Amino acid sequence: MIASLPDNESERLRALRNYDILDTLPEREYQDIVQMAALICGTPIALISLIDAERQWFKAKVGLEAAETSRQSAFCAHALLEPDVLFIVPDARRDPRFADNPLVTAAPNINFYAGAPLKTVDGHVLGTLCVVDQKPRRLDASQQEALFALSRQVMTQLDMRLKLAELQRAQAQLREVAAHQDRIMEEERKRIAREIHDELGGVMTGIKSYLSFAIDTVERSGARPDPHLVEACQLADSAIETVRRVITDLRPSVLDQLGVWAALEWYCDQFQERTRLACSIDIDAATAGTEVDTQRSTALFRIVQETLTNVARHAKASRVVLRARIENAAMVVEIRDNGRGIVSPDLLRQDSWGIAGMYERARYLGGALTIHGSDSGTTVIVCIPMEEPSHGS
Ligand SMILES: Nc1ncnc2c1ncn2[C@@H]1O[C@H](COP(=O)(O)OP(=O)(O)O)[C@@H](O)[C@H]1O
Ligand SMILES: [Mg+2]
Repeated sequence: MIASLPDNESERLRALRNYDILDTLPEREYQDIVQMAALICGTPIALISLIDAERQWFKAKVGLEAAETSRQSAFCAHALLEPDVLFIVPDARRDPRFADNPLVTAAPNINFYAGAPLKTVDGHVLGTLCVVDQKPRRLDASQQEALFALSRQVMTQLDMRLKLAELQRAQAQLREVAAHQDRIMEEERKRIAREIHDELGGVMTGIKSYLSFAIDTVERSGARPDPHLVEACQLADSAIETVRRVITDLRPSVLDQLGVWAALEWYCDQFQERTRLACSIDIDAATAGTEVDTQRSTALFRIVQETLTNVARHAKASRVVLRARIENAAMVVEIRDNGRGIVSPDLLRQDSWGIAGMYERARYLGGALTIHGSDSGTTVIVCIPMEEPSHGS
């Protein structure tokens, strides 16, 4: 006899599909549960059976070879109709509903069946945790209770799987949002830098040349220029210098014009000049000749920038060495300082936004970052693959 469909069949199927469990590989957690069920109930066969539209598919099994059977012959399809009780068939050969069932009349020659419903919080039964025997038998009260308890364990596993998938989706989404904002921020920085350069930089340079011209004219006539004029000229110089620094802090044009490798060399020079810390960089010719797209260039540059800022701020170092290589189709940059060495609690601090940002930038591009501290200093190694990672999956 073929089981009728539950009233809520289409919602039930939607609930089942939502778990995204059908046709997945065997997993230890589920396998352990069927093994325990068989052991406790003393049956040769135990299954986690999920009832799909046309078939029953086994997430875990002992004592049975088949990966699935038709829904028509599934005992579990009958169990769906009684969501709150253990569905027990003590002797299938004598049961009019199953006597002509091909699973009874031929291999695996089922005779005894007991299935505990796999019920979602919304009351949908996805299938059963069932035990099966080739000869008639009974389960005592504690075996029945155990089978029920194990079926709840299956649901706990399934729900955890669902939660994990949701969490991963949310995490991926957050990562996309962060990356998107980062791109907007870089664009905005570029725009502001260009505006400051074109508008303010131009005006300052104009002021400076008028002042120089005025001073020159006075000097050529043999007189001494007004000290206010000289002072103004020096102020203009320092304002031009400030404008230049602000622009490069926002986004160095060398990064967009000459690429990441030139930008890193340029930044190290700047860093050394500004901090008086010996900073050397080693990029081999093959690497220096490799073109890198804007996204990776920006990420790598910002990571190095943050790392060097940290060296200047926290390390108490006298020297920092950078080494950049393309290895196994990935950019690998190592930054080593000879300072006090970062300590591991620093890496776990909730407010380490600089380091968290470095990790995130690398991870977003499918790469990795490691930071290691010792008595002889701190080493940061960042690795970013040149290939596009797949996002949004
Ligand atoms: N090169 C380094 N040497 C020693 N300590 C470091 C180094 N880089 C980072 N740190 C430690 O790690 C902490 C976290 O760094 P970071 O996330 O960049 O935050 P912030 O620089 O704002 O403090 C720093 O406060 C510092 O204690
Ligand atoms: Mg920092």
